[in-house]
Amino acid sequence: MGKTVDLMEYQAKELFAKHGVTTTLGVVVETADEAKAAAEQLGGVTVVKAQVKAGGRGKAGGVKLAKTADEAFEHASNILGMEIKGLTVNRVLVTPATPPVEEYYFSFLLDRSNRSYLCIASVEGGVEIEEVAKTNPDAVRQIPINALEGVTAEKAAFIVDDAKFPAELRDQAIEMVQKLWEVFIEEDATLVEVNPLARLEGDKLEALDGKVSLDENAEFRHEDHASFEIREEADPLESKAKDKGLNYVKLDGEIGIIGNGAGLVMSTLDVVAYAGENHGGVKPANFLDIGGGANAQVMADGLDVILNDPQVKSVFVNVFGGITACDEVANGIVGALGILGDAATKPLVVRLDGNNVEEGRRILNEANHPLVTLVETMDGAADKAAELANA
Ligand SMILES: Nc1ncnc2c1ncn2[C@@H]1O[C@H](COP(=O)(O)OP(=O)(O)OP(=O)(O)O)[C@@H](O)[C@H]1O
Ligand SMILES: [Mg+2]
Repeated sequence: MGKTVDLMEYQAKELFAKHGVTTTLGVVVETADEAKAAAEQLGGVTVVKAQVKAGGRGKAGGVKLAKTADEAFEHASNILGMEIKGLTVNRVLVTPATPPVEEYYFSFLLDRSNRSYLCIASVEGGVEIEEVAKTNPDAVRQIPINALEGVTAEKAAFIVDDAKFPAELRDQAIEMVQKLWEVFIEEDATLVEVNPLARLEGDKLEALDGKVSLDENAEFRHEDHASFEIREEADPLESKAKDKGLNYVKLDGEIGIIGNGAGLVMSTLDVVAYAGENHGGVKPANFLDIGGGANAQVMADGLDVILNDPQVKSVFVNVFGGITACDEVANGIVGALGILGDAATKPLVVRLDGNNVEEGRRILNEANHPLVTLVETMDGAADKAAELANA
């Protein structure tokens, strides 16, 4: 299946520059002081741009023009730490302001449904292309690319003419299209998007924004791609879980989920999301599969990761005893609470079923831990966890 690595604008622009696509790299910084220094170094008017893997940054107030270095400081202080579509902005790009005269849209993408490549081009770019497609569908050209032939000079010229790029820019646009195709193919991308592809003063074409998704399956061919992920470190909880060998994915809700077996965890997410609808719309906070060996240490590691998520209000432990029977899991939970001690502060709803379930329940009842509620059914437990998360 197609796993992709989505790049930030500044990373996409690095790949553009590598392949000779006209763009300006700017300076990526993590503090307002550094933003000010970058603006001083660049001189003149700059633009401070939030670096997050989400669209609509401009609309959210994450792209601001700064006339002076002090203004760059001001904007960076506001933008850093801002949330855009649930993602915290940790970096901003400070780049020279080059006001566009016109804004175009351009992309190459993998069209999975047609098992081919597609080019989308429009001289009405800058804004959301989906909107243009609705209001003026003729202005959004969709041009299939034959995978074997690729984008030749003739094909590039066809694209440019079909999208009605201005005659003065025709040659530049043809060259840019070919270079963007080079990025797409040589970097094993599934998406290369430029919005806006800007016409600047003096009829210069430049990629003012960039979005690239790389095919993770092709990573072995690209040593330099690993650095994109290292610099863009994953969620701290996800890296902690990874270090402990746990199969964990952070989600956006309030109910921590632990289960054994990916299938069970998936259905637990569904049941919890459903139960949450009756309790203020609370949702699962994560996916965590502790796999077959649910001993005390694995359980403690899992709980440790989940309880450290500040969004988590309650935890649902849903285990089906198989090779590791319920009594071992129950001992694991009791042991984990012992290991965590005062670090465990949030209510745990436990549902056990399967091998040795009676013994497992007896162990938990006997331990009588104040944070633990034992519920027999999956639906009942999901409801209880949702109720506690909404309390
Ligand atoms: N270097 C620049 N100089 C002048 N104006 C810029 C510059 N970069 C961006 N802009 C302006 O800001 C607008 C928004 O910038 P950009 O496309 O990078 O972000 P966005 O489209 O809001 O975010 P996303 O692409 O994530 O949806 C552009 O359409 C352009 O008008
Ligand atoms: Mg854009």
